[in-house]
Amino acid sequence: MISNSDAVERILISESQINEAVRSLAKKIDDYYAGRQSRLLLLGILKGSVVFMGDLMKQVRIPVEIDFMKVSSYGSGTTGGSVNIILDLLRKDLSETDILIVEDIIDSGKTLSYLVNYLKLKGAKSVRTCTLLDKPERREVDFTADWTCFVIPNEFVVGYGLDYDEKYRALPYIGVLKREIYS
Ligand code: PRP
Repeated sequence: MISNSDAVERILISESQINEAVRSLAKKIDDYYAGRQSRLLLLGILKGSVVFMGDLMKQVRIPVEIDFMKVSSYGSGTTGGSVNIILDLLRKDLSETDILIVEDIIDSGKTLSYLVNYLKLKGAKSVRTCTLLDKPERREVDFTADWTCFVIPNEFVVGYGLDYDEKYRALPYIGVLKREIYS
């Protein structure tokens, strides 16, 4: 059996780089949302965001609530309506809630551009986005997160929540997967 770390060709972003970026992002979130009367909801998109969410919520100093949504994309090449909601956000107080979507990665941009629109239409007071990783080379729809920790090249990355075939999510760093694993 190949161990998790044996599947990694090289570490792209180390644990300490991630920790520093998460602390820095938490400070920006504290500064941006300070003094608001509304509730701040950190909304993680399952499953990839869980590790990032767990670390980020511990670093943010202002009061936050958490929740999760799960969506699936129908794959590349599809256009409008390509995002399917599997687990929805069920809250009655959205008009008093500032939502910050917490994502692990932006590829095509379809998931976040759909969700931002969806949550605004549902009546959220505000909707902003943060992502650990951004792969702009893969973009299919125009979308930029409000806060991005790392812009990365178009390589197959795993770890810190990100998977290949549901594996490698538990690695504490972002690694480039060996080509032989997925080809
Ligand atoms: C990944 C990632 C984002 C989405 C980004 O989720 O976590 O939610 O894809 O892709 P996009 O910008 O092209 O829309 P995935 O569907 O792999 O599910 P997972 O988080 O459960 O691994």
